[in-house]
Amino acid sequence: MAVRTILSYENPRLRMKSVRVKRVDASIRALIDDMLETMRSAEGIGLAAPQIGVLLRVIVAEYQEEDDEEPKQTVLINPEITEKDGEWMAEEGCLSVPGFVGTVPRAERVTVKGKSRTGKDVRIKTEGLLAHILQHEIDHLDGVLYIDYLDSLDELRKIEPGTRKRRGRRASDENGESTDEAESEEVAEAAALG
Ligand code: NI
Repeated sequence: MAVRTILSYENPRLRMKSVRVKRVDASIRALIDDMLETMRSAEGIGLAAPQIGVLLRVIVAEYQEEDDEEPKQTVLINPEITEKDGEWMAEEGCLSVPGFVGTVPRAERVTVKGKSRTGKDVRIKTEGLLAHILQHEIDHLDGVLYIDYLDSLDELRKIEPGTRKRRGRRASDENGESTDEAESEEVAEAAALG
């Protein structure tokens, strides 16, 4: 395993479409291990292969919410969103756009199919933080960054780099207004999305 360099948003590779993995073999599993190690080292909660310069359709996610005893890990090869519904405005950041967060529309619930690290077909129906991460990471496979959903880069907000994410529930009141406390928590989450 090795920590690899995470490309930043101006790198053209992040704008390319990644190709499907034809066979899930040892080289793909080595890539997944490197991605997990790189993500953890950057204190992120998700990562897509193109972010380390590999244009293959592979994503990983790992995070621990308050009530979890163990971190929840998701690894998906050739992931595809087959269903989505609901909409919320998600505060989000990206390891390839360090130091900033922005608010973009995302589905609340998604169903994603793909393959596991052993090459088995899997189907994940999820909502909340994992649904959010999966949408963000799958976008990376198509060369899309969350900043593309903003009308202007002026909408980005600067944050302290390296803010560590702890938990991932959306924190805002019914009007969608974050309280001060909720906001710092939310920003901490978004800082490290992936
Ligand atoms: Ni990202």
